[in-house]
Amino acid sequence: MLFKQQALLRQKLFVLGSLAIGSLLYLVARVGSLDRLQPLCPIDGRFGPRSQDEIPLRAMQFKRGLLHEFRKGNATKEQIRLHNLVQQLPKAIIIGVRKGGTRALLEMLNLHPAVVKASQEIHFFDNDENYAKGIEWYRKKMPFSYPHQITIEKSPAYFITEEVPERIYKMNSSIKLLIIVREPTTRAISDYTQVLEGKERKNKTYYKFEKLAIDPNTCEVNTKYKAVRTSIYTKHLERWLKYFPIEQFHIVDGDRLITEPLPELQLVEKFLNLPPRISQYNLYFNATRGFYCLRFNIVFNKCLAGSKGRIHPEVDTSVITKLRKFFHPFNQKFYQITGRTFKWP
Ligand code: A3P
Repeated sequence: MLFKQQALLRQKLFVLGSLAIGSLLYLVARVGSLDRLQPLCPIDGRFGPRSQDEIPLRAMQFKRGLLHEFRKGNATKEQIRLHNLVQQLPKAIIIGVRKGGTRALLEMLNLHPAVVKASQEIHFFDNDENYAKGIEWYRKKMPFSYPHQITIEKSPAYFITEEVPERIYKMNSSIKLLIIVREPTTRAISDYTQVLEGKERKNKTYYKFEKLAIDPNTCEVNTKYKAVRTSIYTKHLERWLKYFPIEQFHIVDGDRLITEPLPELQLVEKFLNLPPRISQYNLYFNATRGFYCLRFNIVFNKCLAGSKGRIHPEVDTSVITKLRKFFHPFNQKFYQITGRTFKWP
């Protein structure tokens, strides 16, 4: 009897042990394969023939570790020299549109091993004081990267600021420009919500959206209201087109980036001539947040801050209708110029 129990116990221990070892082996293999998800080297031809301005990759196994430390400013001069790290001017800039999903786009692109993001909005080209500090000042604001990685920054104010296109052109006339847009009325309400929250934080009162968006004298859309003006995408884009050809822009569908981010990111990878590296594994839907969040590897994942994805106040439907009607012709023009059509009303 005792012998039988001992045998049974041994059998159970054996099964449990096998399960533990199996899980351990699975984890090791998984971490290994995650590493392989990030490309390890710039093997010519590995991603098919390279077009002229395609960016080669090189060893980046440190991207999430070492580079992160460097970004925090912990790198010694010796480490920088040893790893051949540089602070590079951006090869691509997310120029707008404010509340279009610029942060989500930047963070999601940063999942790509060949992309390094400037964490802060630098506001170099739209702020005269910063611009006067010169291009070296701007470059020094960039994160450390390996020479073959590309740096991307985002400052949504660039899109609507008059002087910016010329200034960026002077820095790099062949730079790639990313614009993320959302349905214009929703974007305007999102813009308003952000300002409203700022006022509330300071215990200040603020007008209702309806009051700002509609001119009380004419009962027409108030084109002096900044949140409305920003949503007239074509007007701003036309200013940019005086300096850059349309081929240098890529339009990202901000509404789709919310619901279905991967295809949008794949289009950006293509535009930036990057090999496709962002996968569904890197993006998971977080039901509590109601948004997709980012998974870098088995241990590191993150959602965007709570300030992204605010609940919008309810807006009078007649005002929404009026705004949509107002934006309609501008939207048509925008589709025509960009060659990208959206199902905006
Ligand atoms: P709302 O706050 O109106 O929902 P920006 O970064 O340009 O300020 O844009 C903010 C918007 O990004 C948010 O607007 C939100 O809808 C959108 N967004 C897109 N993808 C997101 C994500 N994965 N997590 C949080 N917000 C996201």
